[in-house]
Amino acid sequence: MKKFSRLLLSIFFFCTAGTALAQKATSIERGKYLMESVVACGNCHVARGPQGQPLFDKGLSGGMLFDEPPFKAYAANITPDPETGIGKWSDADLAKAIREGIRPDKTLIGPPMPIEFYRHISDEDVAAIITYLRAQPPIKNSVPKSKYNIPLPPAYGPPVTNVAMPAMDNRVQYGEYLANIGHCMECHTPRNQQGMLLREKLGAGGQPFNGPWGQSVSRNLTPDASGLKNWSDAQIAKAIRTGTDREGHPYKPPMAFDFYKNINDSDMAALIAYMRTLKPQTFAMQK
Ligand code: HEC
Ligand code: HEC
Repeated sequence: MKKFSRLLLSIFFFCTAGTALAQKATSIERGKYLMESVVACGNCHVARGPQGQPLFDKGLSGGMLFDEPPFKAYAANITPDPETGIGKWSDADLAKAIREGIRPDKTLIGPPMPIEFYRHISDEDVAAIITYLRAQPPIKNSVPKSKYNIPLPPAYGPPVTNVAMPAMDNRVQYGEYLANIGHCMECHTPRNQQGMLLREKLGAGGQPFNGPWGQSVSRNLTPDASGLKNWSDAQIAKAIRTGTDREGHPYKPPMAFDFYKNINDSDMAALIAYMRTLKPQTFAMQK
């Protein structure tokens, strides 16, 4: 009898260890998919050369400069290097940094990292993203300290605990979730003079982006004639995946087309279903 229960016990341990391994595998797979498609942290965190060109072989070791009147911010090194990256941070530290914008030393991560949107990342997905980050090669790269000419808020909101995964079979709801964790509306919503997003104009576009490419202006994603009303699902999917418009002309940066080309069909359908439910807005250039 004793032997039998020991056998049962070892089978139990074997099975739970197996499940933990399987979970880890799903998590890294999910993390890789999210990071290399809709979440696209790399659009900001990929290492940059002196002219701002992406250095993909240096991974997520940071350095991209955002030079705007309110700040001169440098994207951080988020590889597991213990000295210049996040190697010494715990999983809880990383989750807090990503969803609340608070570092282990309690300082706040400043813009343009879209923390308000990352607050919506589910517990499972933040864990998957962290697993992916830890699996990257550590790369030494000291990034200059950012300088903010504006006061940062004391926090981006109350602590984030237990964010449930939305039902994936509810297309619109899941599409909204993807749009949040991909921070689409951060770029596609106009801002007021203080730089705050005009939530009542969600998705209306009109936000200008200046850079080495000159200027690009985010488009209207709402179902208005000046937006995506007359676009087919296939045309929208093609624009997002290939970075070209209906006539085949390439879009300018900074949208993360290099990553969005990997968005799978069901996630793309969910994103489009969600955009079709936005309140129709007329496009107007942000002043
Ligand atoms: C729009 C650009 C942008 C995106 C997208 C972005 N970040 Fe950041 N991130 C930044 C900038 C800029 C900083 C530095 C801000 C500062 O110096 O206060 C930063 C800082 C960080 C830090 C703090 C590191 C440190 O050593 O202080 C972490 C961790 C981080 N980002 C992780 C992520 C992850 C994970 C994602 C995707 C889920 C992401 N970021 C997406 C721009 C971005
Ligand atoms: C970093 C800012 C940024 C983010 C994030 C972003 N976009 Fe864009 N997007 C732009 C800009 C700017 C343009 C227009 C580029 C141009 O005109 O050259 C654009 C163009 C588009 C277009 C083409 C529409 C048209 O009328 O031509 C679609 C569709 C689109 N974005 C959807 C999305 C979706 C969905 C997401 C999230 C998964 C997203 N965008 C995330 C900045 C962004």
